[in-house]
Amino acid sequence: MSKADIGLIGLAVMGENLVLNMESHGFTVAVYNRTVEKVDNFVNGRGKGKNIIGTHSLEELVANLKKPRKVMLMVKAGKPVDDFIELLIPLLEPGDVIIDGGNSHFPDTIRRTKYVEEKGLLYIGTGVSGGEEGALRGPSIMPGGSPKAWELVKPIFQAIAAKVSDGTPCCDWVGENGAGHFVKMVHNGIEYGDMQLICETYQIMKDLLGLSYEEMHNIFKEWNEGELESYLIEITRDILAYKDDDGQPLVEKILDAAGQKGTGKWTVIASLDSGIPLTLIGEAVYARSLSALKAERVYASTILHGPTPKFDGDKKQFIEDLRKALYASKIVSYAQGFMLMRQAAKDYGWNLNYGGIALMWRGGCIIRSAFLGKIKEAFDNNPELPNLLLDPFFKEKILSSQESWRRVVSTAITNGIWIPALSTALNFFDGYRNGRLPANLLQAQRDYFGAHTYERVDRPRGEFFHTNWTGRGGTTSSTTYNV
Ligand code: 6PG
Repeated sequence: MSKADIGLIGLAVMGENLVLNMESHGFTVAVYNRTVEKVDNFVNGRGKGKNIIGTHSLEELVANLKKPRKVMLMVKAGKPVDDFIELLIPLLEPGDVIIDGGNSHFPDTIRRTKYVEEKGLLYIGTGVSGGEEGALRGPSIMPGGSPKAWELVKPIFQAIAAKVSDGTPCCDWVGENGAGHFVKMVHNGIEYGDMQLICETYQIMKDLLGLSYEEMHNIFKEWNEGELESYLIEITRDILAYKDDDGQPLVEKILDAAGQKGTGKWTVIASLDSGIPLTLIGEAVYARSLSALKAERVYASTILHGPTPKFDGDKKQFIEDLRKALYASKIVSYAQGFMLMRQAAKDYGWNLNYGGIALMWRGGCIIRSAFLGKIKEAFDNNPELPNLLLDPFFKEKILSSQESWRRVVSTAITNGIWIPALSTALNFFDGYRNGRLPANLLQAQRDYFGAHTYERVDRPRGEFFHTNWTGRGGTTSSTTYNV
């Protein structure tokens, strides 16, 4: 067999399927795994008869690659990535590319790009989304790192990526150093938000409206045929119809304690660092944390009581309200996600293409949806769009959903149904559209107790004042820095 177009290290679920995807697009792939039996099992199993070269050492892997060599790591994020980089550097030559396709934290990717470039090599940190099936049939791929590496990996990445209906691949260059992993991290944060919103509508349907699983399945089926069409609504539809061996809905038997691998948490940490109110994803992460306190909640439920949910309105109308509330909340969540990316682009010096990002998420990934097509259009119409909520299409959507959205939030709250994401979305909307928040009082409080100073509405921005509120304070004021 001739030399391979690319080498891949790490034959776990994502790695194995990516290799098969690459091979099916005409690329020869050399593979290596730390537990080498896995290599033999793969080459003699799913990889049998294909253009896949199994290797038993990194030296053998590198020796089987066409130059400039491209080696992709599909290993666990964190130390394993650093370890493999150290092992690969002495085996590679200037101009070769190391690619990390795991869910690495973007500051690590910034550090690694610099380090690997200093050794004369090129580096790519790329988000790969779509789970097992996406990896095999076409994931969304979000690469960043050394710009010179992009031309080298582009033909492979764009060939194996998902395609939108006109054939455009869901993969394009995101930006320098950690930009690709940053965008993938925000993707995952948005994934957390979308999932939490769907879960809240499910709980309202179940606990307030008293709908059966069959009814809920049918509603999600219908929603998936309209503007909410998305992978997550589609799988929810199917999950709700899935029966356990005894014929009961399996989802009823699943323990309500959510897991998380950290990418949602990182997104919220990044938002706190950059001062962006990413409230919906924040609530979605905390919602998982609250769910995980299962034993404590079960105990609390015997002591703390709320209203018994009771609905006596028009169910059909309320289900339509729910649909609109979900859509409006989703608009807020994505608006916040794009606000975060815009700020990060400034903070880290990335030139992000927001329409391009929406297109990369349009297909292949977990948050793929018709909705992302609309976001792409919004940025096509105005690449400088300051906020998605201000785009004419989304503005109209959110304004026309407002009544329904308020009905859902107030009814759920009156009935004691937990809706952290739906309600924070509406609260954000009410804050964002308010030209005068009570932060005037907050500034007065800060100045009162700590001489932190304030600006005045009747004086230019940047001029700071201090008042001796009690007559007992001195004239010294605190510095006015902001974090
Ligand atoms: C994807 C997913 C994936 C992520 C899982 C699990 O884009 O294919 O985002 O990268 O690992 O969704 O994430 P949690 O365990 O944090 O839910």
